[in-house]
Amino acid sequence: MTITFIGHGYVGLVTASIFADLGNTVWVVGHTPEKIENLKKGIIPIFEPGLEEIVKRNVRAGRLLFTMDYDKAIPESSAIFIAVGTPPKSTGEADLTVVYAVAEKLANHLSGYTVVSVKSTVPVGTNKKVKKLIEDLKPEKAEFDIASIPEFLREGQAISDTMHPDRIVIGTESKKAQDLMVELHEPIDGNYVLTNIETAEMIKYAANAFLATKISFANAIAYLSELTGADGLKVLEAVGFDKRVGSAFLSPGAGYGGSCFPKDVKALIAIAGQNGYDFELLKSVEKINTIAMNDIFKKAEKSLGGVKDKSIAVLGLSFKPDTDDMRDAPSVVIINKLLEKGAKIKVFDPVAMNNAKKIIKGIEYCKDSYETAKESEILIVLTEWNEFRQIDLKKVGKLMKKKIIIDARNIYDPEKVKEFGFIYIGVGR
Ligand SMILES: NC(=O)c1ccc[n+]([C@@H]2O[C@H](COP(=O)([O-])OP(=O)(O)OC[C@H]3O[C@@H](n4cnc5c(N)ncnc54)[C@H](O)[C@@H]3O)[C@@H](O)[C@H]2O)c1
Repeated sequence: MTITFIGHGYVGLVTASIFADLGNTVWVVGHTPEKIENLKKGIIPIFEPGLEEIVKRNVRAGRLLFTMDYDKAIPESSAIFIAVGTPPKSTGEADLTVVYAVAEKLANHLSGYTVVSVKSTVPVGTNKKVKKLIEDLKPEKAEFDIASIPEFLREGQAISDTMHPDRIVIGTESKKAQDLMVELHEPIDGNYVLTNIETAEMIKYAANAFLATKISFANAIAYLSELTGADGLKVLEAVGFDKRVGSAFLSPGAGYGGSCFPKDVKALIAIAGQNGYDFELLKSVEKINTIAMNDIFKKAEKSLGGVKDKSIAVLGLSFKPDTDDMRDAPSVVIINKLLEKGAKIKVFDPVAMNNAKKIIKGIEYCKDSYETAKESEILIVLTEWNEFRQIDLKKVGKLMKKKIIIDARNIYDPEKVKEFGFIYIGVGR
């Protein structure tokens, strides 16, 4: 099948490459000339393990094509996926400007029968608006259906998530569109959820809001455990053994972040509000997340008796390991708070520093963990990158001015850390 993706970010580029790898001819439409020229050479604009290799392989095979021209890609495509960003507006609602703009742009290039799918995370009702926009602008002879095919991949594991998803949600309003989408996804195994457009749109928000709720619940239990003397990690481990609960996303830490959970929780609160429902549960989820980020700052302040002029080392900036995505990363909030209070900060992240430099100013970016730790009075681990797990704590201890570790992701064994003479502070332990 010949298909088109509009948008070549974490969702667009990964899914487009996988569909090309499965033998389809895939056009990827972008809007930045430099990025499109790089992509044609196999140079990708994001960090995602294993992705560059797949892009290169399919570019070489002539199955993955990059362009800025809608008239090249759209007329020959049977399916078009809109995979552009839907960032939050100041009101919390999803900003759909780009989704609607690209829908308008593609409309008059449609030819024959095409299924136009929105892959971006969008509020209920968006696909129907996309349909109306296209209907008004398409050539008379062109026929089309809309589909809502939300994406569930996780950055860092995006390739295997796309090939082996927990579920494939296909929301359509016609059998013809559903059949075409099922045919395209056929080589990918997963639980198929075939439904209507509104349900598909809502599934994505419900799934992300539930995961964010689990994280905030874990953080609330961790917080309460610290206050009462319980071992929060043991509590959550035991709770997670219950098959009805499951252990995933029950780890306390510095709060959730990234390009999806914060914005999707906000958007669902806004969707609820617009429909006359006060989603208080999700408002609390957000509040607990803010407390979780502040808690790391407070732990640093308490352990040093104030952070003014203190040297603080931070390991990990991305919102989670194996990605360079800095959108809504807890590190931004925590570091800015420390800076506000006069701390001097050195940081290291294996891949996110280039993106971090654009949003966190006034700190020193170091070449590795040891340079970061040098002369610091406290070491804060904010992202659980594997390379921090096996760090040489003896060497780190010798380099630091004071030996305090705040393990915001609970990656270390407290007893082992203490053996090296550190004061250990975790979350919920
Ligand atoms: N990142 C994730 O892990 C993830 C997972 C599931 C769903 N989603 C959802 O998928 C959507 C895309 O997310 P993402 O992380 O890939 O975003 P992203 O910011 O990485 O990518 C967005 C892409 O849209 C392109 N774009 C912007 N304006 C354009 C225009 N006018 N014409 C053509 N292209 C344009 C950008 O160049 C970029 O390639 C969002 O709605 C997001 O919520 C993201």
